[in-house]
Amino acid sequence: MAVAVAVKIRLDKFLADMGYGTRSEAKREIARGNVKINGLPVRKPETKIDTEKDEVAYKDQPAVYEKYEYYMLNKPAGVISATTDKKEKTVLDLIEEKQRKDLFPVGRLDRDTEGLLLITNDGELAHRLLSPKKHVDKIYYVRVQGSLSEEDIRRLAEGIDIGEEKPTLPAQLVILKSGQTSEAEITIQEGKFHQVKRMFHALGKEVVYLKRLRMGTLVLDENLKPGEYRKLTKEERDGLC
Ligand code: URA
Repeated sequence: MAVAVAVKIRLDKFLADMGYGTRSEAKREIARGNVKINGLPVRKPETKIDTEKDEVAYKDQPAVYEKYEYYMLNKPAGVISATTDKKEKTVLDLIEEKQRKDLFPVGRLDRDTEGLLLITNDGELAHRLLSPKKHVDKIYYVRVQGSLSEEDIRRLAEGIDIGEEKPTLPAQLVILKSGQTSEAEITIQEGKFHQVKRMFHALGKEVVYLKRLRMGTLVLDENLKPGEYRKLTKEERDGLC
């Protein structure tokens, strides 16, 4: 859910922040009389807007200021968790209706990882969700080559050496199926580079499929097919505080 917060802001910045072009393009549109405040054309880009009270329209279409945007994406494989890239498709390219230009993915999923990715411009929330000190659970569904055992559950719960200075924080493994290829859900509270893959590698098994299901209270909407996204509901957004 995009949250409207009252702010006083220059008209050209308002338009640029909300994705109506660059600051200079916004100034040009204002000079042309294409922007109205409370029904009247305004030609001064420095005019201050009260985002709670003033009604801004661009070419007679309402322009609503949203300080923060929050999207849940079911990240597909083959797309990178970056904001821009010269060659590769990024997760931001998938969010067609975005308005803010300062959106970013909260944490990185590998190119071949699927599942829950929160896209926002709310830096404080991102910090709260990602800092290992905040102990926010991240739950992944994982398929690995090889069988899984009670011993694996114990070793992950104790913390495992993945070649970092310290062992990983305790992780919970729930085995769903064990065999030549095994399935499990793993809960971790960190987000080191390739963390889940490295944890299973340390157990002698290779991850063949990885999908994030949950981050804190935020649960992947299973109605979203890989590549699809939607705005968070108010309940989902409030639940993340
Ligand atoms: N752990 C990994 O190894 N890869 C991811 O994409 C996320 C967690």
